[in-house]
Amino acid sequence: MITQSTIDRIFDAAIIEEVIGEFVRLKKSGSSYKGLSPWTNEKTPSFYVSPSKGIFKDFSSGKGGNVVSFLMEHERMTYPEALKYLAAKYQIEVEETGVTPEELANRDIRESLVLVNEFAFQHFKKNLYETDEGRAIALSYFRERGYTDQTIEKFGLGYALDKADSLTRAAEEAGHKKEFLESLGLIKKGARGDYDFFHGRVIFPIRNPLGRCTAFAGRTLKSHDKVKYINSPENELYDKSRTLYGLFESKQSIAAEDMCYLVEGYTDVISFHQANVTNVVASSGTSLTTGQAKLIKRYSKNVTILYDGDTAGINASLRAINVLLSEGLNVWSVQFPEGQDPDSFSKSVSNEELRAYLKDRTRDFIDFTIDVLLKDGREDPVKRAEVTREILGSLALIDDQISRGFYLQKCADRLDVDERVLISELNKIVRREQIRKH
Ligand code: CTP
Ligand code: MN
Repeated sequence: MITQSTIDRIFDAAIIEEVIGEFVRLKKSGSSYKGLSPWTNEKTPSFYVSPSKGIFKDFSSGKGGNVVSFLMEHERMTYPEALKYLAAKYQIEVEETGVTPEELANRDIRESLVLVNEFAFQHFKKNLYETDEGRAIALSYFRERGYTDQTIEKFGLGYALDKADSLTRAAEEAGHKKEFLESLGLIKKGARGDYDFFHGRVIFPIRNPLGRCTAFAGRTLKSHDKVKYINSPENELYDKSRTLYGLFESKQSIAAEDMCYLVEGYTDVISFHQANVTNVVASSGTSLTTGQAKLIKRYSKNVTILYDGDTAGINASLRAINVLLSEGLNVWSVQFPEGQDPDSFSKSVSNEELRAYLKDRTRDFIDFTIDVLLKDGREDPVKRAEVTREILGSLALIDDQISRGFYLQKCADRLDVDERVLISELNKIVRREQIRKH
């Protein structure tokens, strides 16, 4: 628990217009500040910050509160997260009750790891523009993929020189301990000694929702390399199952558009941003987890899955649908033409065409499931029963009775089955699930 005196000091120190000014462009207007609502798409400013009262008021969404509630609402922080964020910003030491010496020591380790990751992040970024090798190999690669400098900067893309100890040396010279580089997976032990794990690869930094770099992905540029991407191992800062690539860069748009596009890969996210579709995150090639679904839910309850159209992609989509429905999210899907992923498709059309495609091709998960599973077996009763069961399995995960009923009716229509039959089957599944859970 953070002590009351720390909380008081944080509130005293925090300058509300300064904190909010990092997220909303504010203009002085009399004794207060004015800006565009971060929660709506308004054209005339109706968002006010009053320094004297220490509050904000957003007339277009009706939201209002103090500096901490702004961070909780806008950045989806928890109360202690918001307090700690402000404490760090205003250099206030946080006193907590009930913290053991062990927890304190762990916190020191975490802080060192954060610094080392930040160092590596800057190092890789610098390599890209400030070394001959970086410019010749990596920068030209990103350029070939159509990435602008602005995009490269936005995603903090970088390059690890093709040398065994480039990062190791630089980090040690800057006073960082080797053991921390090791526990972050930046250095690996090999048969011929230690080496920079990511050497010779372009770097995609992975960030948490606050923009802190927690891990890296490195893509090879050599066509004969068997492994296209290598990734940081999980560590003190990086829990893969609770990370979504692109969330930091996309979270504001996800909330503003009230829709999250879910893609498979790093390059899908980046290419979409470049095509001006900025509400997109990647599950990074693994099946979507509950933790990731919860993370999306902080920003929007609506998700559209944009996985590849091959069998693996379809199966991954079906699994993701169930994970998302279980978390109470609304799910849609868009399929791309054969052999295309969001990255390649977005590059093959204009930005307007991409938007139009996404708009026209969005189907709810019922239509998606029926269309992909009944492609050629429309008349086969065995196949139809199988698909019906698959969908009922998904419907059983929906808690909300109203939307469940709506989907059930739709399912009955599309599969031409008596709705009462579906209801009774669904109830059986739900009952079985309840027994299993107890
Ligand atoms: N992935 C990974 N490790 C691998 C292969 C894939 O972590 N060895 C993850 C990455 O997040 C990758 C995603 O799975 O972005 C999708 O993989 P793939 O489609 O093979 O890569 P692309 O994103 O299409 O990458 P590129 O366009 O650079 O080929
Ligand atoms: Mn690709």
